[in-house]
Amino acid sequence: MVENKAAIEFGRQNGERFVEELKELLRIPSISTLPEHAADVRRAAEFVAAELRRIGMENVRLIETKTPEHPGGHPLVYADWLHAEGRPTVLCYGHYDVQPAEPLNEWTTPPFDPTERNGNLYARGAVDDKGQMWMHVKALESLFAANDGKLPVNVRVIIEGEEEVGGEGIARFVREHGDQLRADVALVSDTEMFAPELPTLCVGLRGMIYTEIEVRGARTDLHSGMYGGAAPNPFVALAQIIAKLKDDNGRVLIPGFYDKVATPTADELKAWKALPFDEEHYRETEVGSRELTGEAGYSVLERTWARPTLDVHGMPGGFVGAGAKTVIPAKALAKVSMRLVPDQTPAETFVKYKAYVESIVPRGVEVTVRMIHSGDPIVVSTDNPYVQAATGAMREVFGTETVFVRGGGSIPIVGDFVRELKIPTLMMGFGLPDDNLHAPNEKFHLANFHRGIESIVRFFAAVSA
Ligand code: BES
Ligand code: MN
Ligand code: MN
Repeated sequence: MVENKAAIEFGRQNGERFVEELKELLRIPSISTLPEHAADVRRAAEFVAAELRRIGMENVRLIETKTPEHPGGHPLVYADWLHAEGRPTVLCYGHYDVQPAEPLNEWTTPPFDPTERNGNLYARGAVDDKGQMWMHVKALESLFAANDGKLPVNVRVIIEGEEEVGGEGIARFVREHGDQLRADVALVSDTEMFAPELPTLCVGLRGMIYTEIEVRGARTDLHSGMYGGAAPNPFVALAQIIAKLKDDNGRVLIPGFYDKVATPTADELKAWKALPFDEEHYRETEVGSRELTGEAGYSVLERTWARPTLDVHGMPGGFVGAGAKTVIPAKALAKVSMRLVPDQTPAETFVKYKAYVESIVPRGVEVTVRMIHSGDPIVVSTDNPYVQAATGAMREVFGTETVFVRGGGSIPIVGDFVRELKIPTLMMGFGLPDDNLHAPNEKFHLANFHRGIESIVRFFAAVSA
């Protein structure tokens, strides 16, 4: 067994301070999608950079990602420590941006006022991903502190501030300056454990395309009594379009949508069947709906991990205030995304989707289909020694064997780590299924924060050996 007793002990002694520091970061509302929070996003980047500098990382800097084509770009935080001669280099990835916190009245305590209750820390970003990114920083601090300011391996850190909006800035940096991130393995902590107490490596993520459909009818908003019956209604048209995107059995109706969908291997499907999954418990506690929906003939795990799907997120426009307004809106918008799986590609899928939407436009309206952002699906290889280092580390901490799962969510840059940097990527996450990612009352189970730090310390020690 490889370990680093002093570093683990340091983590245990300083665990409470680590949580207090995390709370400070969580108080910064670094919501990447809202332009009015751009200064907060930068403040979060500076906070993380200052801490990396303090613990002993070198070459700490913010890398700007703003370009004329990407004017809203948020900075990357970079740091390295490369003095472990002859040892592998680990690239640590995380994101310091968060999703919007609405609906605010659903939060028991305010989203940017981190609060401990029942062993959990509640705040927007607690687990996705500030808390998990902080585990990396605190594992590094523990190793520095216990080893006279040295690390057992070489480390580069890259932390982005626009993961929740598609990660365009980091994707460009990896494409253009991949050499600055040269490493032997990437470590990502931005996923979940399959169940409490069950250490988990996530080996696949869905990709996505996030789009908007804009429908325009009349030149301007109209009185619905004076013009109703003669003027086209963009919301009705939009509803008609959306109704044709999926059938009653959850199948996406875009021609050719499923052409490139790869079936998981027989081994994978067998392993998923063996996971402790209770569909009724999932429906009741996680989803909370009367029934689960989706494609017939596939299990829930297959439907959420290995099958593509389509969802509508919101339909801005028209009158949405309290009470009534009799208006025919001039335009309507729908935010529609598709989750993709290997070997679908965002570009090809978007072309098929756009052509299909344009072919079903109702009379009297014009439609524009726009891509907002996209990311590739990915399945990572488990055939490398770093996987053993990770499962060994988590076995010591959790006392049990690691399960291999996929995730239904997307982390666009992971595909680029694998394809551009050509390095194995480990997704070792410590979230729990009921952590409420992107939802009100997001939390991080603090025991997992501490076990995550210890797992990462042990992982670094194992990689060094
Ligand atoms: N950490 C999540 C992704 C995730 C969650 C993967 C759970 C596996 C299990 C990430 O922050 C996320 O939410 N990504 C967005 C990406 C998108 C906006 C490009 C997503 O999946 O919606
Ligand atoms: Mn995340
Ligand atoms: Mn997220």
